[in-house]
Parts: sequence; C-alpha cells; structure tokens
Amino acid sequence: TNQNANNLRWHVASVTRQRRAELNHHKSTVLWFTGLSGAGKSTLAHAVEEQLYQRGYHTFVLDGDNVRHGLCGDLGFSAEDRVENIRRVGEVTKLFVEAGVIVLTAFISPFRADRDRVRYLLKDDFIEIFCDCPINVCEERDVKGLYRRARSGEIKEFTGISSPYEMPEQPELTINTAINSLDDCVEQVLHFLKQRAIYK
Ligand code: PPS
Repeated sequence: TNQNANNLRWHVASVTRQRRAELNHHKSTVLWFTGLSGAGKSTLAHAVEEQLYQRGYHTFVLDGDNVRHGLCGDLGFSAEDRVENIRRVGEVTKLFVEAGVIVLTAFISPFRADRDRVRYLLKDDFIEIFCDCPINVCEERDVKGLYRRARSGEIKEFTGISSPYEMPEQPELTINTAINSLDDCVEQVLHFLKQRAIYK
C-alpha cells in the first residue's frame, strides 16, 4: 500500500475494459508461461502470439530477457529480486489486460507464492501454463550455455541447479515441451483459448 493512498483518487474511465473488448472484438487475458530456463517459455509465447496476431488479436509478449533490460534492469537473481521482478511484471500485466491486450508472459517465475499473488491480482484473467520440461533436457539443450556456467559455479543461484523451482500445483494448462513439437504445443494453447471463448 502506498503511504499517499489517502490523497490519491481513481478516475472513473468512460472507456471501460468492456468497451475496449467490443472495439477489439475479443477479450483480454494473460497467458502466464512458467518453467525452467530453456523449457521453451519464450519460444512458445512468441509462436502463440504469431498465430493470434495473424487472426487480428491484440497481443504483447513480456519476457525476462527484455524486461530485465528496462523495467527490471536494477534486479538480479536473488530470491528477493525475483520476487520483485514478478511483482512488477504482474502489475504491468494487469495494466495491459485493462488496456484490452492478450498478454503472454515468459518468466521462470520460480516461486509459487509469487505466481499466486499475480493470480489473485488478475483473478479469472490469469491462465497459468506450465512448460514442463525435465531439467536434464533443458541442460542438454543449454541454448545459452548458462547451465554449463551454473554447474561450474560461475553463475550463482541458477534455477534448478542452485536456486529452487516450485512446480505449479494446479496450472490451467501443462504442456510437455520436451516431447511435443512446437506446433503441437501452440495448438494445445489455442485449443484452451477456444474453450475459454477468448479465441474463435
Ligand atoms: S525470474 O526467476 O522469473 O525472475 O527470472 P526471469 O526474469 O524469467 O529471467 C530468467 C532469464 O535470465 C537468465 N538468467 C538466469 N535464469 C535463472 N537463474 C539465474 N541465476 C539466471 N541468470 C541469468 C536466463 O537466460 C533466463 O532466461 P530463460 O528464457 O528462462 O532461459
């Protein structure tokens, strides 16, 4: 809570979220991808976004690698900084959702409590998608060479090696990114959005 909260007033907007949805011809929501580094969160988020975009949906991807250059450029990978990273991203996501956008986030978001806090903030708009990929597969891929550097001790507090990852207990969707092709993974997400009447 803000210390100045008593002096702040919400403006009542005449352009509501409902009216934005009518203008856009679609609802907004967040697809919150979570999983280990290298599990395919960003790849899947961008591939789903491409499909949505081609069909005229308003979308935006927020991911660790870009947000950590700007909005969260002051944060590292201590537990404390990860908590703050996810808190900020949650608030930004809420603004985007209010603005009528389908947001796709790709953050490791390793702590259950942090994801649950975003869930509480976004209520029914929060769709948690667990990118399920065993760590040995992520490590074998090691696209960015980070696992090797984490194993050697060069990178401290690396998720799955020297910092925890808490699996979602009841995600809206679990996608096995180790076994399924990218196209199949995209299809699973789109299928879910159809069931939710967000995607036609
Ligand atoms: S978090 O835990 O949600 O705050 O992390 P996130 O903002 O998603 O950032 C993860 C990306 O940062 C790189 N990186 C690390 N990841 C985990 N642990 C440590 N110590 C670390 N240092 C750098 C890594 O490239 C992650 O990208 P992805 O896309 O997940 O592989």
